[in-house]
Amino acid sequence: MDTFIIEGGHPVSGEIPVSGAKNAALPVLAATLLTRDEVSLERIPKVRDIRTMANLIESVGAEVTPNDGGYRIRAAEVTSPEAPYELVKTMRASSLVLGPLVARCGEARVSMPGGCAIGARPINLHLAGLEKLGAKITQEHGYIRAHAPHGLKGGVIHFDRITVTGTEDLMMAAVLAEGETTIENAALEPEVADLADLLTKMGARIEGAGTSTIRIQGVSELHGATHAIIPDRIEAGTFLIAGALAGDPLTVCGVNPNHVSALIDKMRQAGVEFSFPADDRIEVRAAGTLRAVDLATKEYPGFATDMQAQFLAMMTQAQGESQIIETIFENRFMHVSELLRMGADITLDGNRATVRGKTQLSGARVMASDLRASASLVIAALTAQGETVIDRVYHIDRGYERIEEKLRGVGAKIRRAR
Ligand code: EPU
Repeated sequence: MDTFIIEGGHPVSGEIPVSGAKNAALPVLAATLLTRDEVSLERIPKVRDIRTMANLIESVGAEVTPNDGGYRIRAAEVTSPEAPYELVKTMRASSLVLGPLVARCGEARVSMPGGCAIGARPINLHLAGLEKLGAKITQEHGYIRAHAPHGLKGGVIHFDRITVTGTEDLMMAAVLAEGETTIENAALEPEVADLADLLTKMGARIEGAGTSTIRIQGVSELHGATHAIIPDRIEAGTFLIAGALAGDPLTVCGVNPNHVSALIDKMRQAGVEFSFPADDRIEVRAAGTLRAVDLATKEYPGFATDMQAQFLAMMTQAQGESQIIETIFENRFMHVSELLRMGADITLDGNRATVRGKTQLSGARVMASDLRASASLVIAALTAQGETVIDRVYHIDRGYERIEEKLRGVGAKIRRAR
């Protein structure tokens, strides 16, 4: 299993590029199952979860051809509308094929996702939404079966709780349903709007994506399209935090600043200064003294749960006491025990972490437990005294493209050992 070996205390300076967004690319790949025609996708990040989704759509019958930074995909026939256990167990976002498969084939079987490192993460809201569109849902042998032999029918879906992939899954189901579908209390994440952009290019009729009410007029078929994925706001945010701790200065390139505004607001409150040399560039340098600030994670446009671990690592370097409350997932503080091993002063009480700083972190052997927790360990290691060894970096490879090469490119002392 690969490890990262990081020698802390070196500044990072220069330009660091942002890849396409993993969480936008995943639903977009699933959406290619909605048409027989070729869909050409650009700026697909080369990360493990994307490879898993590509394998999944291949296993249902699509032809996937990698080309220059993207994929050409043709699902001329769907031969087996099923997401098998072997793939779903490695990536919960596999449930994103449920909506497209039942819309296209009238039938889908998806292995039930089990527990997950960051929480229970059920898909009950996806299933209730599909039922509203007329699908019959049954469960057998660990699989969920959605069945709509005469096609889906438009309906009103009200999510009791905001769900990102749930909104995406139902949007993909509704584009081929007969009549109008309204999704209420929809997720506002930019990845939802990006998916709607692609679907619209494919001939779907969608209004309001990116707001809390999405209206979809079903069409009888979709056609091919070309689409470039939006930049990864979480990768960009991770680099901004690295820059706030060690930037000399660091310019994050190819980012949409609007997508990281909640993060930038919080970082400014902590004393970090930014400049915007171009529309898609943000420059940040190490703040002299960081101040402790409190935060609670929230759905977009609030502070992203996917940035909580990295921000918490930054707060170990801030003066004072910071309260960090996780409201989206019930068990997303796995990085805390590893940061404690590096000398951080953090107490946990349910969904609240109290971080007291500033503490001098010292390099240690630590373990990556999930994607964003791993990113927070990389950030901590960059500022720690001495060498940190991070085990199980396959977690980080799920969602960050060549992170060690990108960081090395701006002066960090990080290498991968196999
Ligand atoms: N929930 C339910 N029932 C459902 C769906 C969700 O109870 O049917 C709950 C979840 O358990 C969670 C909350 O609702 O407590 C929000 O979950 P959501 O469905 O929004 O999360 P997701 O769609 O499974 C996506 C991202 C996550 C990100 C969350 C929140 C993708 C592929 N994944 O997950 O990204 O943390 O939204 O923003 O888009 C990551 O990239 O590291 C990651 C975990």
